[in-house]
Amino acid sequence: MVDIIPFEPNHLTGILDLCRDEAWPTFPEAPERALRSLTAPGVVATVALEGTRVIGLAQALTDGVIQAHLSLLATAHDRRGQGIGRRLVTETLRRSGVQRIDLVTDSAEGFYTSMPHRRFAGFRIYTTAGTPQRQPDPPPEPLVDHPGNRKWSRDARRHNDDQRSAIYGS
Ligand SMILES: CC(C)(COP(=O)(O)OP(=O)(O)OC[C@H]1O[C@@H](n2cnc3c(N)ncnc32)[C@H](O)[C@@H]1OP(=O)(O)O)[C@@H](O)C(=O)NCCC(=O)NCCS
Repeated sequence: MVDIIPFEPNHLTGILDLCRDEAWPTFPEAPERALRSLTAPGVVATVALEGTRVIGLAQALTDGVIQAHLSLLATAHDRRGQGIGRRLVTETLRRSGVQRIDLVTDSAEGFYTSMPHRRFAGFRIYTTAGTPQRQPDPPPEPLVDHPGNRKWSRDARRHNDDQRSAIYGS
């Protein structure tokens, strides 16, 4: 039996394993940061649990009423095609309390088009400092060069630092 339940810290190891299987390095390279991400204010993190094994993960960021963003979704390779991904999305919508979820994907279009949806162009905006240089993340589009860019990225970094300090202390 597969249970779809809220994330608890003892699920972290299983989540890191799922991320490694997808070659998603961001969580495994800093587990303590991953835990902060999964438990941050406004985050709805949900796991699919079979016994004690984590076989699925969804992480969303919600405003609680209208809109959420789906940040992560994965089902274990050997459990795909059994409705777990769909259950994770359904439960994420329910727990987020929203009308809609936005997301970007470069790997699961067939999955998302199987649900009620509208299609938009998607972007992922990076701070210059945080722009990943490594694979397997696809290289980001080059930043459009205009006079405001340098100031924008400095202000964005400062904003991020302030937010981090406000939430976690400095
Ligand atoms: C995308 C993913 C989460 C789907 O999980 P899953 O548990 O296999 O999905 P489900 O079994 O709930 O599938 C739901 C529906 O989507 C369809 N579907 C699933 N993956 C699909 C794919 N790659 N292409 C086309 N259709 C797909 C299923 O056939 C099913 O349709 P049905 O309800 O009409 O039978 C899983 O393939 C995965 O972890 N992929 C790698 C990570 C990834 O790409 N995550 C998304 C990043 S944004």
